[in-house]
Amino acid sequence: MKFFIDTADLGEIREANDLGILDGVTTNPSLMAKVGVKGEEAILQHYKDICAIVDGDVSAEVISTDYEGILREGRELAALHENIVVKVPMIAEGVKAIKTFTEEGIKTNCTLIFNAGQAIMAAKAGATYVSPFIGRVDDTSWDGLDLIEQLVTIFDNYGFGTEILAASIRHTMHLVQCAEMGADVATCPLSVIKGLLKHPLTDIGLAKFLEDAKKSR
Ligand code: E4P
Repeated sequence: MKFFIDTADLGEIREANDLGILDGVTTNPSLMAKVGVKGEEAILQHYKDICAIVDGDVSAEVISTDYEGILREGRELAALHENIVVKVPMIAEGVKAIKTFTEEGIKTNCTLIFNAGQAIMAAKAGATYVSPFIGRVDDTSWDGLDLIEQLVTIFDNYGFGTEILAASIRHTMHLVQCAEMGADVATCPLSVIKGLLKHPLTDIGLAKFLEDAKKSR
């Protein structure tokens, strides 16, 4: 299972990368705005800065919603660095653009996936990744994890090469259950990645070992 961090914060990306377990990064326009990156040049530079930290796929999202605009933006983003993955919204124009990017050898991440039909369309167009947003599905009183299970079955049935990138992960159990179900990738906030390290019995056990070690030193 690959771990991506879902942030545009360079400090957080460095911290996760320093753990040695980071495989990539996902960003979106909201995350870019959150860290105060403003203006086209600054945004492009920010993606380059992220690529300089992490040796793995970095999703950079287009904001155009028409086929030509998505292609123009996506090609510019892909030219920034070989690890850039063009993040494209799940709309008809987006699916058409994913098909073209696939033919051009540009990696894509189809974002804002909320049901299996959307994921099948993106996979048929050749998307490198599909991003089902499980936390946001949970917010609508459906179980987002059911969607992950469904996608794993469908993609296995047909041997789709598209990877399932579980997104909108809110807590460690989301991640653990995605792992049980066989999601290829999970993208999560730093707090969730660090949360995986925690258990009170580890802290209690370590304190006791360190205390006892003093007796034989
Ligand atoms: C995925 O790539 C998105 O950036 C992200 O996971 C959305 O998560 P949110 O629902 O916490 O905003």
